[in-house]
Amino acid sequence: MSEAKLGGRFTFPGTSLTVNRVGYGAMQLAGPGVFGPPRDRDAAVAVLREAVAAGVDHIDTSDFYGPHVTNQIIREALHPYPPELTIVTKISARRGAKGEWIPAFSREELTQAVHDNLRNLGLDALDVVNLRSMHGTEEPAEGSIEAPLAVLADLQRQGLVRHIGVSNVTPAQVAEARGIADIVCVQNRYNLAFRHDDALIDQLAAEGIAYVPWFPLGGFSPLQSSTLSAVASGVGATPMQVALAWLLHRSPNILLIPGTSSLAHLRENLAAAELELSPETLAELDGIAAAAEPERHG
Ligand SMILES: NC(=O)c1ccc[n+]([C@@H]2O[C@H](COP(=O)([O-])OP(=O)(O)OC[C@H]3O[C@@H](n4cnc5c(N)ncnc54)[C@H](OP(=O)(O)O)[C@@H]3O)[C@@H](O)[C@H]2O)c1
Repeated sequence: MSEAKLGGRFTFPGTSLTVNRVGYGAMQLAGPGVFGPPRDRDAAVAVLREAVAAGVDHIDTSDFYGPHVTNQIIREALHPYPPELTIVTKISARRGAKGEWIPAFSREELTQAVHDNLRNLGLDALDVVNLRSMHGTEEPAEGSIEAPLAVLADLQRQGLVRHIGVSNVTPAQVAEARGIADIVCVQNRYNLAFRHDDALIDQLAAEGIAYVPWFPLGGFSPLQSSTLSAVASGVGATPMQVALAWLLHRSPNILLIPGTSSLAHLRENLAAAELELSPETLAELDGIAAAAEPERHG
């Protein structure tokens, strides 16, 4: 597979960071429940190395995956990093002794989180840091994000963070964030069956801001749909490949970070960029969300 084929290139607005639209999400590399070490650390290292060898130049992570474990595996696998690699991390939480996700938005905690990422990734500055909102868990909820974002903007002025993004946010929070810092990406939950952000994606596309869907394959329970399966067998691909290809077709500002701990799934996911979907097929796939959520799309 040639690098040029990973969905084409995207430049984060106002930056010199250009990445292939098909990247990789590293959350699945930690142990069960995103806590502790993976069952097979060598396999995790192999997945990262193969991803980068295949042209992936955008990796999404966080120091709270593990915690620390995922970043340490990224460092072991890839440091010293190729100059073209963009590593995007996120801050918002710390982990309890049993793996609990504990919100961590004080100035001290956010600063600590940036330093944890720097240390465990082996970097002097982080390419992009997403502030994940403290309002809402699976879905964003309204509320100001000004105070933690101002802390992140301070860390950017200190040179520890190059660029800022936001995660799990509403359109109002994106607007608020853009008044505080230059926002280069928004990372929210979105996929073929979960499309609450359709309007936001179009708005961000007009502004050239990246939209990076998390759970692009449905997350811990990958997408299941008879329509998806039928389309996939019709085009000679797997359902997960069709789900990823649909996202690439959905909007040019969408960047993919599918997560996997498996080399076979990694290869399958990267190959999804080759899949052309006709307008008729896209319309059929659009029906999946309408059927799943008639109250929003009916
Ligand atoms: N900002 C946030 O709040 C937030 C939240 C969640 C995630 N994220 C980011 O988003 C990235 C992606 O999310 P995710 O990994 O949770 O979910 P995902 O990419 O939607 O799905 C990952 C799941 O799908 C499976 N899978 C991957 N490729 C497959 C394939 N080709 N065929 C069948 N199953 C496949 C994986 O299992 P295998 O390991 O067995 O392949 C895993 O169970 C994460 O890595 C993380 O960086 C961000």
